[in-house]
This record gives sequence, structure tokens and C-alpha cells, in this order.
Amino acid sequence: MDRKILEQEHKATGIKVFLASMDDIHIKHLIKLARDPILVNLMGWNTFFESDDTEQFIQAISSYTLPYSRKSQPLIFGVYLNPEDFPIGYAVLKGINIDLSTTEIGVAILDKKYRNKGYGKLGFKRLINYTFNQLHIQTIGAAVLLSNKFSINMCRNLGFVEREIMYKSWEMPNKELVDLAWMELTSISKQVT
Ligand SMILES: CC(C)(COP(=O)(O)OP(=O)(O)OC[C@H]1O[C@@H](n2cnc3c(N)ncnc32)[C@H](O)[C@@H]1OP(=O)(O)O)[C@@H](O)C(=O)NCCC(=O)NCCS
Repeated sequence: MDRKILEQEHKATGIKVFLASMDDIHIKHLIKLARDPILVNLMGWNTFFESDDTEQFIQAISSYTLPYSRKSQPLIFGVYLNPEDFPIGYAVLKGINIDLSTTEIGVAILDKKYRNKGYGKLGFKRLINYTFNQLHIQTIGAAVLLSNKFSINMCRNLGFVEREIMYKSWEMPNKELVDLAWMELTSISKQVT
């Protein structure tokens, strides 16, 4: 079967990441990597799954929050440094609303040894370009915990603007209600290169 592989290079350093579909073994690998308490606080959901819980894991990474998001087939990619190797994270389009031409986006570098090295931003950038240029979706929304400053910075640096703070709109696994930032990028605003 043909495997779609999207590539993004950071010109200055030559670093590359690839987005590609994942088989079951690769998803199980991500499930193992996700068992990290730090991720629970950054993403706001319980990231601890049994290896066989691939369906539940896919549901968790595909869940959406923004008012325009709709039930639809999510587009899930593994983030790879080498498409023949195991993924280090995932990137997803979820809650796609064809009528309004909107989607929600999510990305995570689950392998902690590869965080803060530029890979997340590169993968995110590639998925944004794919969404605008190949899927012709016009609005990309991201719902980010207000406390997750890294992700908010990353979105801002890629041209997202804060559309709204959704106060106490997200329930953490410990039942605490916390604030979400609704970040948004449109195809007619600054294009990422
Ligand atoms: C958020 C995440 C995807 C970023 O990917 P990454 O590979 O770790 O980060 P990168 O090295 O690509 O850096 C991306 C941006 O994060 C921000 N960032 C990274 N390290 C930072 C730090 N120490 N302090 C502040 N901001 C930081 C910066 O804005 C950076 O962009 P810049 O280089 O233009 O300034 C990744 O850290 C992650 O998976 N975190 C947990 C899950 C998560 O929060 N997902 C986001 C939900 S939308």
C-alpha cells in the first residue's frame, strides 16, 4: 500500500522531519512513550493507556473542543526523523468541518529525548502547509491549555492569534477546571513557509 510521506526541512540546519501514516506497531510505540506524567499536565488528559488500547488512544488524540469542530474522520500522522524507524510523536487534524472549512490541529513529541530540538515545530509547520495547500481548509484552530506556554509560543511564532480564552472550560484528569486558549490561523493571514 502507498504510504503518504510529507517532508519538512529546516533550511538553516538541514534537520528534517517526516509525517506519515502509522501501522498498529507504531501506534503501540507511541502509547508506551505517552506514559509520562509531564504530558498529562501539558495536554490535560490521562496519557496512560494499555498497549492494546489503540482505539482509545486514537480517540484521545482525536478529541476536539472548539465550537466549530465536528465529528469526522481524523487525519493522524506519525512524526518521524526517519520514516522507516519508529515515530517520536504524532500530528493530527481533528473535528474537521467541511461546511465551514475549519479543522482543529494537535501535535505532540511524545519521546522526551526529542523535545525542544525543533522537531515539533517543523512537524506542525508541515501539517499547516498540507492543510492549507493540499486540503484547502481555510481555518486551523488549536485548543491549548493556557498554562502550556511552550505550545502557545510555538503557535504564536507560526502566526496563530489568540481568538479567545475559554475560562475554566477544560476538566483535567484530577477534575480541576482550567483555562484553554483558542488559537487560530487562517489561510489568508500570514502564510508559513
Ligand atoms: C509542544 C511541542 C509539540 C513542541 O515541540 P518540540 O519539538 O518540543 O519544540 P520545538 O523545539 O520545535 O520548539 C517549538 C517552540 O516551542 C517553544 N519552546 C521550546 N522550548 C521552549 C522553552 N524552553 N521556553 C519557551 N518556549 C519554548 C518555542 O516557541 C519554540 O519555537 P521557536 O524556536 O520559534 O521559539 C512538544 O514540546 C510537545 O509535544 N509537548 C507536549 C505536548 C503538547 O504540549 N502538545 C501541544 C498541544 S497543541
